[in-house]
Amino acid sequence: MTRKRSLTGIKPSCTVHLGNYLGAIRPALALAREHESYLFIADYHALTTQHDPAALRAAMYEVTAVWLACGLDPETVHLYRQSDVPEVFELAWVLSCHLAVGQLERGHAYKDALAKGGAPNAGIFNYPVLMAADILLFDADMVPVGQDQKQHIEVCRDVAERINHHYGEGTLVVPEACITEAPLVPGLDGTKMSKSKDNAIPLFAPAKELRKVVMKIVTGSETLEEPKAAAGTTVFELYKLVAPASDAASLEAKLAAGGYGWGHAKQDLYEALEAELGPLREKYAALRADEAALDRVLLEGARRVRPIAQRTIDRVREAIGITAASR
Ligand code: TRP
Repeated sequence: MTRKRSLTGIKPSCTVHLGNYLGAIRPALALAREHESYLFIADYHALTTQHDPAALRAAMYEVTAVWLACGLDPETVHLYRQSDVPEVFELAWVLSCHLAVGQLERGHAYKDALAKGGAPNAGIFNYPVLMAADILLFDADMVPVGQDQKQHIEVCRDVAERINHHYGEGTLVVPEACITEAPLVPGLDGTKMSKSKDNAIPLFAPAKELRKVVMKIVTGSETLEEPKAAAGTTVFELYKLVAPASDAASLEAKLAAGGYGWGHAKQDLYEALEAELGPLREKYAALRADEAALDRVLLEGARRVRPIAQRTIDRVREAIGITAASR
């Protein structure tokens, strides 16, 4: 049986936090091991909202270094940068000629931008077209994404089906969305960890700062002696996500027995986090410091996958009646 081809994009943004790691990066890497995986840095998607060149470049390198530090193995996962595969823009144009404006007008991101009273740029409007091209260019069978991306995958499937119907089945591979159930990662205040809510634990803060932030987690106000229910508390839910199950069970028991304070539990959480993140932090620092080496990894990834993109473009050109490009 041939393995399914899974593809997903990562929009670069700065300051990756623990919620990104536990909720997105770690599950995505586990999933990537099961399939033939394509993972790319969607730098041109970031351009829809990031117009500071230094910030755009820094975010691209940061995200790349974070994923590599967290265990992405570029030997087994195809890792590349969207902008290094320019065929994507050719396909995006072809797709846009087969998509109704009305369907894009119903896009959540575009509607949200309008509702905020801004004048969204055409890149925000066309975001789903470029995303569909990312996917269809590589004949992806499945696209693991969060719930927030479901509508984008629908646009991709619709346009691929329309093109196949009109020009012939097999012109494009219609992918399945695979909606990933990310574990809910609570932030310092107990609500979902998010950069915009100022409740995030930075992923690669130095150990001392990490400890300081962990100590800020909001807890109950029971006395040291009182027995405490661990389930559902921020400290314990975070602990469960990083510590082995047996350690989590023993922390729960200690809290339930009384005589064990939230301060102790936070220290346990800090130690578990440091055990998991400490080694990754060092790898990250080394990777991030060498942009030329990151470029080499990304360019090598693009070099390996581009022939697939070129074959798709040739197939599409042939189908739609545009003379094949001579390569
Ligand atoms: N839109 C996705 C996000 O914001 C990123 C992305 C770009 C993507 N192109 C893609 C995801 C193709 C999956 C497939 O997270």
